Amino acid sequence: MSERWSPSSWRDKPIEQSPVYPDHAALGAAEAQLASFPPLVFAGEARKLKRQLAKVAAGEAFLLQGGDCAEAFAEHSADNIRDFFRVLLQMAVVLTYAAASPVVKVGRVAGQFAKPRSSPTEVIDGVELPIYRGDIVNGTEPTPEARIPDPRRQLEAYRQSAATLNLLRAFANGGYANLDFVHQWMLGFVKESPQSGRYREVADRIAEALDFMRACGIDPESHPELKTTDFFTSHEALLLGYEQALTRVDSTTGDWYATSGHMIWIGDRTRQLDHAHVEYARGVKNPVGLKCGPSLKPDDLMRLIETLDPDNEPGRLTLIARFGADKVFDHLPALVRAVKAEGRSVVWSCDPMHGNTIKSASGYKTRPFERILQEARAFFEVHRAEGTYAGGIHVEMTGKNVTECTGGARAISDSDLHDRYHTHCDPRLNAEQAIELAFLVAEELKKERLARGPRQVIAAE
Ligand code: TRP
Ligand code: MN
Repeated sequence: MSERWSPSSWRDKPIEQSPVYPDHAALGAAEAQLASFPPLVFAGEARKLKRQLAKVAAGEAFLLQGGDCAEAFAEHSADNIRDFFRVLLQMAVVLTYAAASPVVKVGRVAGQFAKPRSSPTEVIDGVELPIYRGDIVNGTEPTPEARIPDPRRQLEAYRQSAATLNLLRAFANGGYANLDFVHQWMLGFVKESPQSGRYREVADRIAEALDFMRACGIDPESHPELKTTDFFTSHEALLLGYEQALTRVDSTTGDWYATSGHMIWIGDRTRQLDHAHVEYARGVKNPVGLKCGPSLKPDDLMRLIETLDPDNEPGRLTLIARFGADKVFDHLPALVRAVKAEGRSVVWSCDPMHGNTIKSASGYKTRPFERILQEARAFFEVHRAEGTYAGGIHVEMTGKNVTECTGGARAISDSDLHDRYHTHCDPRLNAEQAIELAFLVAEELKKERLARGPRQVIAAE
């Protein structure tokens, strides 16, 4: 695949999961308008994320990627963004402490609007309707009109992404990310949790570490890095017309970047080597994720890596494993070995959500917390056995107290799901379940750290 690339070269390739817009003129007008808008993120920021991910690939940092399955126009509010950010930071503190290494924080946010679907239509009350493909494409309402792809939605997605990003930048740099606050929120969580005994020890140790640092004169007032953080955005680059319109040349390097978000990923349903989504992603310099599901063969993976990361550039490629709790041992080892044998530098991350979706007895799409945890543990176990680095987790979560996944410390049951089931797409971990998962992953990280032995510190002369 050494053919010339351009931001539009994907248009000559076969494409999956692409909405059919009835009004071509309106689509062209929306894309032209997007192309005239300022970039949402800057090339330098994407390069910074790549450098941080290179550290993850080298086993010196951990990736935490999380957020909504699909962002929704109707749920765009400062409170929702704040609550999400707060929970992600709480998870990050727990993981930073457990891994004793930096955590790279990436949201599925400010652009995560387009959804791949398993069927192009669905039947509601006996009527067959085009499927909902995310707010950037059409509406959830079960009417034929709402389901018609509307290009103006792309402009709204841009507007919402810009506003979300603006608030996240303010939170990350304006004091809201202060480690002392984040720790206070976490103590609140621990106090409320029915499993608090299990989490208290880690929480207490973090408190001690902060007290110790303060006693040494290291506090957020004197050290601003304790009250700010780098926060990056990511989404699935599914709607390629939108992506193309926001693909820009970086004036300092002459390279092309997707400016719709810092990191983009390719879904498990659209990763065909000679198809449009791989073609688009290969030409932009951003960090790129690739979802790896049970149907991915080692040979195919190696060809995809060759195409997406021909220079074996650390931080460029994140492989996001999503097999299902009981399939990890059948599939992951062969992929990990193939990548290792070729000397490829990648980030291995675990998406324990998408392979564990079931239909509950009451008819809800749900995910049992136990299965999510089981997949994450299996992921770590495979990497320990293969001598490779389990570098990250990728989760669908919200800062709200929803009831979408069963289980967790509060033991949400099938009959509780109807209570606060708000997702537009897949079931998400609620705030408590997300933090709980971080504590449980922290136990795995600690095992990994112990297996690698103590950090070698060479005293300077
Ligand atoms: N700047 C450091 C980091 O981002 C420490 C830090 C500040 C932090 N606020 C945080 C870590 C909130 C986790 C969560 O890692
Ligand atoms: Mn999803």
